[in-house]
Amino acid sequence: MKSRTDATPHRRRLIGLVVALPLVLAACSGSGPQTALNPEGPIGRTIDDLWELVFVIATIVFVIVQGGLLYAIWRFRARKGDDQEPKQLYGNIKLELLWTIIPVVILAALGYPIIKGIFEVRAIAEGDDVIQVQVTGHQWWWEFTYTDFVGDDGEPLVTANELFIPEDRRVNLTMSSADVIHSFWVPKLAGKRDVVPGRVTNLTLIADNPTAADSPHPGQCAEFCGLAHADMRVKVHVRTEADFNDWVAEQLTPAIVPTDGAAAAGYETFSGTCVACHRVTVSDSDGISQVGEFRTLDVDGVECTSWLAPDLTHFGSRDFFAVATFENTREHLADWLANPSDLKPMRPELNDTANGRILGMPDFGLSDDQIDNLIALLEGWE
Ligand code: CUA
Repeated sequence: MKSRTDATPHRRRLIGLVVALPLVLAACSGSGPQTALNPEGPIGRTIDDLWELVFVIATIVFVIVQGGLLYAIWRFRARKGDDQEPKQLYGNIKLELLWTIIPVVILAALGYPIIKGIFEVRAIAEGDDVIQVQVTGHQWWWEFTYTDFVGDDGEPLVTANELFIPEDRRVNLTMSSADVIHSFWVPKLAGKRDVVPGRVTNLTLIADNPTAADSPHPGQCAEFCGLAHADMRVKVHVRTEADFNDWVAEQLTPAIVPTDGAAAAGYETFSGTCVACHRVTVSDSDGISQVGEFRTLDVDGVECTSWLAPDLTHFGSRDFFAVATFENTREHLADWLANPSDLKPMRPELNDTANGRILGMPDFGLSDDQIDNLIALLEGWE
């Protein structure tokens, strides 16, 4: 039979763990940039202010209730020889009213700013000054179409995973999904909003600090969407109005088809392999054209064009790649092209290109020369 003394060290260890765990986990918080507690725009600030208000009131209530509880446990503890039942308060109308009315008053006081905040945060941005961006969630990347900005070929500006917005401007994201439910979340700028296939949801972003630390603002898909969900990131770059306009002009410029050197060899591989899923807008002697496969999505009865994989026209200008997960360096790119699934969990063996179902970039068995040439091509497309 186990004696009581055998169990005690276990219990002590368990209590030690329960006490130590929150302290140890608190160390993980650090100064993570992906936080809603360090907002960089008015919508993020509205959410943060509400959080602070609720936190302060909840802390006061917690301290009063727990303090009262501990005091009662200590003050009215069972004493030796005292076997009387404590005085019962059941049915005391005054007390029942008191502890019903106090929470009602607290919740009513909190309800007003919270409901007002919900309406503010959920309002769809309207007006001539609003930047319109169509967001399409994919397994596992984000497609951004700036419908207000159209190139010489009549096609709107399309980019992936890195969203550029001007400071102090309302940006209306009109969102849908090409496959499963995702959720768009950039904690410093706004709350989460689901991105649902066959439906349209909206989210307003406003950022007011182009020189913010930890910029670009990181975000994360917040709805489990399969294998690479945890890697489905997003970055939001905030620019001054002038810098944003420069970026738009640059993005609307088509890529040049290289005619000699490594980049030209790379383009040969690119047009034979990559364009099965990726898109690029190129300019050559025949004029401007789109290269690559797209599919048409039916979103709430509206036909939308969507690409199977990110647009690469300005790949060289991006800071990151693979859903904004890896810094866009030569080494990372070489590793990625050698076998993408080594860097990001995907299921390319289940790709069904004909039906627009893409679950990742396959390993095309590229030679070292082909990889070098492709890097030369992509780095040149700035
Ligand atoms: Cu997309 Cu999780």
